[in-house]
Amino acid sequence: MKNYLSILLCLFGLSQISAQPDATIYLNADQSRYTINKNIYGHFAEHLGRCVYDGIYVGRDNQSIPNTDGIRNDIIDALRELKVPILRWPGGCFADTYHWMDGIGPQEDRPTIVNTWWGGVTEDNSFGTHDFLNFCEAIGAEPYLAGNVGSGEVKELSDWVQYVNHDGISPMADLRRENGREEPWNVKYWGVGNEMWGCGGNMTAEYYANVYKQYATFMTDWTNSSKLYRIASGASEDDYHWTEVLMQNIKPSLIEAVALHMYAVIDWNDKGPSYEFSDKQYFQTMQKALRMEELVTRHSTIMDKYDPNKKIGLAVDEWGGWYDGEKDLEPTALYQQNTMRDAMIAGATLNIFNNHADRVIMGNLAQTVNVLQAVILTEGEKMILTPTYHVMKMYNVHQDAQLIPTDIFDMPQYEYEGESLPAISCSASQDASGKIHVSLVNIDASNTHEVNLKMRGVGTLSGKATILTADEVQAHNDFDNPDRISPREFDGFKLKDGNLNVSIPPFSVVVLELK
Ligand code: AHR
Repeated sequence: MKNYLSILLCLFGLSQISAQPDATIYLNADQSRYTINKNIYGHFAEHLGRCVYDGIYVGRDNQSIPNTDGIRNDIIDALRELKVPILRWPGGCFADTYHWMDGIGPQEDRPTIVNTWWGGVTEDNSFGTHDFLNFCEAIGAEPYLAGNVGSGEVKELSDWVQYVNHDGISPMADLRRENGREEPWNVKYWGVGNEMWGCGGNMTAEYYANVYKQYATFMTDWTNSSKLYRIASGASEDDYHWTEVLMQNIKPSLIEAVALHMYAVIDWNDKGPSYEFSDKQYFQTMQKALRMEELVTRHSTIMDKYDPNKKIGLAVDEWGGWYDGEKDLEPTALYQQNTMRDAMIAGATLNIFNNHADRVIMGNLAQTVNVLQAVILTEGEKMILTPTYHVMKMYNVHQDAQLIPTDIFDMPQYEYEGESLPAISCSASQDASGKIHVSLVNIDASNTHEVNLKMRGVGTLSGKATILTADEVQAHNDFDNPDRISPREFDGFKLKDGNLNVSIPPFSVVVLELK
């Protein structure tokens, strides 16, 4: 019977119409209090698989791929265009094995080591501190250096800060000049270790809190301009004890932010394929991705207890979808395709971060090129932009804009085998020129949902919209078909009496611009 009904609905072109009531979203433009930190739109690049080597950096002697000092020109252009505000490097787990002095000076003198975390591959240190910081300058991003706490020393991290930031005469500043860089880079953002509960040293929160204080104390602010921004290695997912212990034990003058890591992975032992996934796997990924709301809310509540004035930020410095890597590549390379499912993760997660702008000051999507939920994939001289790239670009209008709080009523549900999830997610902001942007995501795999946007505190004049969608949720761009998925103009909305009715197709991201 159900099948007959579907056939009839299809014949009449109604298969995408949901029987559920329309959602109503109030945009409270008169209650804007927080700025959306542009660093929420940050990225993360580790010495892992083909992210740095082959992805970003192809070597100075490379004749076949156009590059500037070894960095691919197409990557520089694409990341500039994306408006990447901040880039975290060199890891990840690699960070706590990395000795920065291995990566400075003439390339031929740099030691060749083994990347013990990621596949035991050869690391020739040809991409080091200067290369990374110059790359950040080229793409217009702030650098975020992750210091080695696990296998490093206090002096080593303190010297790194001096090397990149000191303007005067000092051993490290002199060494930097000898290596060809006169001006300091003034690096503000510093991670004090990574995943200290795991690859960073398998520490307890209590032990790490003390280690953190020791490292943070000796990270002198050499810049004399902007204060260093020290980020403590944070909890894995719902380890609320970790956040509680750090907040309780580290005095505010020693810490600027606490990190959090959360991957949208179905099951660490059975992650599933990156593009030939089932409906069930799609639903499960959405279930996990939407848990970010609970994690951010609960970690923030703990932080509120110790820091009611919200001076200390929450930096979600690793997030994204994680699936089984491509079989023909090394399992440790973490190369995966990027589909409309990833666009859903990105759209929904960024809405969560925007809506928590009071506490979330940074997000770093893992990882920029060729690794995990990459915004760019490369193959030889070819490069493609993924659906996630397009979402992040559509959303960059929120960077440093004023968050407009939203209330959603009559939330439609995405139902699957007796379980359900909220189908729609939304965030809104007003930029310096007065334009309002509303980003809407419908994660439902089969139903269009209608959304009524009701504007408070602002008279809406006119609007235009962009949509990212596809014919199937498994759809992706590949090297033979690089533009199968790209944003296009969207006219599925009506403006009436200051209210807006939007019809959002299944697995779509819509960004509205209103003025
Ligand atoms: O992003 C890949 C890895 O995931 C990082 O190295 C580590 O921090 C996390 O477990």
